[in-house]
Amino acid sequence: MFEFRERDGLARIGTMETRHGRVTTPALLPVVNPNRPIIPPTDLANRFHAEILITNAYILGRGPHRDSVLRQGVHEFLGFSGAVMTDSGAFQSHVYGDVNVTNAEVIDFQKRIGADLGTMLDVFSEPSHDRARATKDVDETIRRAREADSLREDMALVGAVQGGLHTDLRERCAQEVSTLGVSVCAIGGVVPLLESYRFQDLVRVIIASKKGLDPSKPVHLFGAGHPLVFPLAALLGCDLFDSASYAKYARDGRMLFSDGTRHAAELRESGCPCPVCSDHPMKDISQNETLLAEHNLHVCFAAIREVRRAIAHGDLWELVERRARAHPALLVSLRELRLHNEFLEEFEPVDRRGALYYVGPETAHRPILHRFRHRLLERYQSPPAKGLLVLPEHRRPFMEGYAPVLARVMASADVHAVVKSIWGPVPVELDQVWPMAQSVVPDSLELESLEAADVFFREWAAGAGYPFGLLWEGDSSLEELRARAPGNRTVDWNASRVRATADYQFGRGAAEALLRGTISYVISKNTGKVRNVVVDGDHVLSLRAEDGLFTLKAAGAQRLHGAFQAPRLRVVIESDAVPFVREGKNVFAKFVREADPELRPGDESLVVSPDDELCAVAQSSMNRREMLAFKRGVAAHVREGVPPLPSALPH
Ligand code: GUN
Ligand code: ZN
Repeated sequence: MFEFRERDGLARIGTMETRHGRVTTPALLPVVNPNRPIIPPTDLANRFHAEILITNAYILGRGPHRDSVLRQGVHEFLGFSGAVMTDSGAFQSHVYGDVNVTNAEVIDFQKRIGADLGTMLDVFSEPSHDRARATKDVDETIRRAREADSLREDMALVGAVQGGLHTDLRERCAQEVSTLGVSVCAIGGVVPLLESYRFQDLVRVIIASKKGLDPSKPVHLFGAGHPLVFPLAALLGCDLFDSASYAKYARDGRMLFSDGTRHAAELRESGCPCPVCSDHPMKDISQNETLLAEHNLHVCFAAIREVRRAIAHGDLWELVERRARAHPALLVSLRELRLHNEFLEEFEPVDRRGALYYVGPETAHRPILHRFRHRLLERYQSPPAKGLLVLPEHRRPFMEGYAPVLARVMASADVHAVVKSIWGPVPVELDQVWPMAQSVVPDSLELESLEAADVFFREWAAGAGYPFGLLWEGDSSLEELRARAPGNRTVDWNASRVRATADYQFGRGAAEALLRGTISYVISKNTGKVRNVVVDGDHVLSLRAEDGLFTLKAAGAQRLHGAFQAPRLRVVIESDAVPFVREGKNVFAKFVREADPELRPGDESLVVSPDDELCAVAQSSMNRREMLAFKRGVAAHVREGVPPLPSALPH
C-alpha cells in the first residue's frame, strides 16, 4: 500500500508499506550482489539508514548460496531486517541473451525466500527493437505479469513495463500491468538509455509509461542509480531507484557526484562533504574500492534526500533545471519536457511555498506557466477598451511599479493594460496570481526568453479583440495612445482584480455567478489589499495574500454550484460519506466516485452527493485520475461542510 503526503511535479513524498517496515519515497534501493557484497547489508541499514535494498533472486537461486537462502530466508541470509526487493533475472537476459529460469520458477523462489517485493520475469525490450519485436515482447511481458499475479499468493509483486522506445506500447503495457494485483510498477529496459546518456529518450519512455500506469502505485525505475538522473526521474513520477552504480563505479575507481562522474585518481580533492571524503585523504580513497563505494553510496542517498527536500519545499522544477546544466544530454531532455505539458500540467499543484526562480529559458515552459497562459486564453475575459497598452517586463508585482503610468495613461486614453512578461501576457489585474508576483527573474533577458515572450504574447493578443496594441516606451507613447484611443478609463481595481481572478481560477462565468448582487470588500489594514469578498451580505470568497488566489466559502460554493453544471468543479462522493463530509470531515480518495477532470491539486472544489447536492467546499489534493485510483489518503481537504437543504431533510 502506498500513500503520499507531499507532491511536486509528478513526484511525491510517500510511504510504501512492506512486511518489513515502511519505506519513505523517493527511495534508493542499494543493490546487494550476493556473491560480492562490497558494503555489508548491516552497514546499509546502520550506517546508511537504508530502509530497503534490492538483490537478485536469479543469482541467488543459481549460486552456491541457494540452499542457505532457502533455509534462512533472504532477510536472515543477508542480515538485513528492513524491506527486501528481489529482481528476477530479466536484466541478466539483457546482458547474456538468455536466462535459464521460467517466470513461474522465479516467482516461486522469491516466495520461498520471503522477498517483501518479488519481481516477475519480464522480457527486456532493447531500445533498438523494432515495433514488431517490441510488440511481441510486450505481449509476453503482459502474459507473464498475469501469470505472476496468479502465482504470487501473499507476496507483493513488482510488475514490469517494457516496450522499448515505442511510446504507445509502453502506455499499453503500463495500463495492462497496473490493472493487475501488483504493488509496484517498474519501468524496465532503460539501462541502455542511462548508460549512453540518452536522457531525452528516457523522458519519453517514462512519460509514456506514466500515462498508462495507475497513479496510486509506486513506480520503480529499474537500473537508475546515478544521482544525476534522480531529480528528473522523480519529477516525472518515479518513486524508487536501484543503484548498482555505487559498486560498479567503485570497481573502476570512479566517484559519483550529483553533477556527474569523476576518476578518483585524477582528483586531488573531491569537494564532497560525505564522511569518507571528510575523514580520508584522496590518495587513500582512490585506492580503496570500499571507500569509493561508500562515498558513492553517501552521494546517492544524499541526492535522494535532496530530491525529497525539494518536493517538500516545492522547488523540484528548479532543482531539475539547475541539474540539467551538468550535462548537455540532460539539457536536451529538459527541453523535451515542454512537449508533454498537457500531461504534466494535470499533476502540477496550483501554488507552492516561496518564489519561483528563473533558472534559464526553459523555465518559461514549466507546466505552471503553461497553465497560466492556457487559462488566460480559455478563461479570462478581456474588458472592452479601444486599445491595448502593452507594458514591458518590470519589477513585480507589476501593478505597484506601473500604477503611476496607468493613472496617467488612463486619464486620457481608453486602453486596457497587459504586461508582456517573460512568462507570457499578464493582464495587470492578475498580477498577484501565483507565480506572477512571486517570481524572481533577471533584470536583463537573453534572446531566447524574449522571443518566447513574444510568441506567448501574440498567441493571446490575436484573440483578445483589441483594434491595436502599443508597447509602452515612456511618455513618448502617451500622445499616440491618446490619438488612437481617445477617452478615458476609470477602473475599480479591486473589482476588476476580483472578477478576473474568479474567472481565471474557477472558469469563465465564475465571476458572474459569484459576484451577482451588492458587493463589498473587507480590505486588509496592513496591505490595503482585498481580503474578503461579501455579496448581498454573504462572505463568498477570501483572497489569499500568499498566492493571489481565492479560498472559496460555502456561500460562494453554493453560487458556483448553481451556475455550473456537473462535472465542473465537482468531487462526487459515495452516499455513505455524505454525512461525514457535511460535518466537515475530509474527503478520502476511496469515497470518490467521480471528479472534474479539470481539477488540479490545490484547486477549490465542490464536494457533492451522487445526486449533485452540495455537501462541502474543499481544497483538492489530487487530480481526477488520482482521486479515482487511490484507496488511501485524502482526496480533498474540506474547508466547510454544507448542511442539507431544509427541503431535503427527512420529514
Ligand atoms: N534491471 C535493470 N533493468 C531491468 C528490467 O528491465 N527488468 C528487470 N526485471 N530488472 C531490470
Ligand atoms: Zn564523498
